[in-house]
Amino acid sequence: MESQLPPMISGGLPVLGHVVEMLRDRESLFKRGHAEKGDLFAMKLGPQPVLVITGAEYNRIFYMETDKTLNMQDGYGFLREAIGRVLFTASTEDYYNQRPVLQEVFKRERMVGYVQAMNTEIQRWLDSLGQAGEMDITQAMLRLTQYVAGRALIGPDYEQELGADFWKDYSAISASLDPVLPPTLPLPKFWRRDQAKKKITATLKPLIQARRDHPERYNDLISTLLTTPLKDGTTLPDDTIVTIFMGLIFAGHETTAGQAAWLIALLLQHPDYQKLVREEIKQTVAYGQPIDAAVLSKLEYIYWAIDETTRIRPSADTQLRTVTSPVKIGEYEIPSGWRLMVSGATSHFMPDVYSNPEQFDPLRYSPERGEGKNPFSIIGFGGGVHKCTGMNFAKNEMAVITSLLFQQFDMELISKDIHVVTGNGANHPSEVRVRYKRKPLTELTDAATIREAAAAGCPHIRQHMTPQ
Ligand code: HEM
Repeated sequence: MESQLPPMISGGLPVLGHVVEMLRDRESLFKRGHAEKGDLFAMKLGPQPVLVITGAEYNRIFYMETDKTLNMQDGYGFLREAIGRVLFTASTEDYYNQRPVLQEVFKRERMVGYVQAMNTEIQRWLDSLGQAGEMDITQAMLRLTQYVAGRALIGPDYEQELGADFWKDYSAISASLDPVLPPTLPLPKFWRRDQAKKKITATLKPLIQARRDHPERYNDLISTLLTTPLKDGTTLPDDTIVTIFMGLIFAGHETTAGQAAWLIALLLQHPDYQKLVREEIKQTVAYGQPIDAAVLSKLEYIYWAIDETTRIRPSADTQLRTVTSPVKIGEYEIPSGWRLMVSGATSHFMPDVYSNPEQFDPLRYSPERGEGKNPFSIIGFGGGVHKCTGMNFAKNEMAVITSLLFQQFDMELISKDIHVVTGNGANHPSEVRVRYKRKPLTELTDAATIREAAAAGCPHIRQHMTPQ
């Protein structure tokens, strides 16, 4: 007997199918499809049939079948044009050949240096804020995560080495991302993308050469990419180093910035939970001391808040695969050529997995309640072999931002209607405007430490001593 295809949701337009609704508001489209047809439903994006899946059982198939009956690179063709053919946008064979490099960049020992870089840049940002004022956290996080990425991946001289235009050029590439239009159309945004790529390549090539000429002077991302052997025993050519570098910045920048901004917004919107976080910081994070792995390992309330933010406001709310040979999902056999999508908008709100799923309730992850234990019930960092390699980097960065910001500042949320802005790369919140005030030093540490630090010329102690 021929197996049936999954049910099609209503509302498709002739020729375009559901593409307009998808571009306008994919969260509502996924929720509507789920309400109408259940955990497996089909839609059409132009001529392309797509299966949208919900729930741990089907999400697991999506991740575990990747690189077998499903491929990752075709769905992300629009990313490939922006960053190049590398890692998950490369062929499966090239991906597995390059994978040892990814594992080397994110191995546990390197996290120590990354966390130090986070401390330095986040404290530098806090020191620049003055005594009181207003700011948009969404914009602030976009800049802060750039500084952290620069210092963590390139080292202390990153500003000088990357130059003034690097992030402008990166933004031109990011703004060119377009999952619908052919990426080679003669449009201004694609022209700007190509110019920016040329400039970035011209910036990075001399940095690669410097590390090739003087390996003893460097221990950063580029030197790691230069020296780590691939699976086939060769090392990466310069052009691929440029693309991997850009690939990591793309995978990690807007995703982390959006998630960090939502985290702060949600904590400000939930004063009761914020109180728990502030108390945890007071008990665990000593003012003026760097946050290291030992401190991070004690921050339960903050990491639960990070997980809850990933659940209800995921930066990466959907991911894509292409069926390369027929695959059985539930009672349906999905033919080659179909696209598959996982959906945070539905999977993250299953009432049988999460109690009161619409509520921001980080305590659901406490050992007493232990909700959401199945790793495939949440898709915010992906799953399986391609699960986000930068996840710990991102979570630790958000933990250091939250710890130092809430330790040193009182904040009040001004923005009333904060909503999700859906991006082609990653989602982020609309403006998160806050009024902030630096805490008096006496609230942060004792008088003897203040005297000692001031005598030693500690720069961030000086910030707090500026007259109000
Ligand atoms: C909150 C921040 C982040 C989120 C929400 C996020 C989300 C994701 C997701 C959903 C995937 C899987 C994509 C798929 O299966 O289609 C992924 C993969 C990846 N992410 Fe992240 N990411 C974040 C931060 C980072 C950072 C900071 C880095 C690096 C500095 C990074 C590097 C990567 C890489 C290299 C992959 C591909 C892994 C592979 O194919 O094996 N990510 N990320």
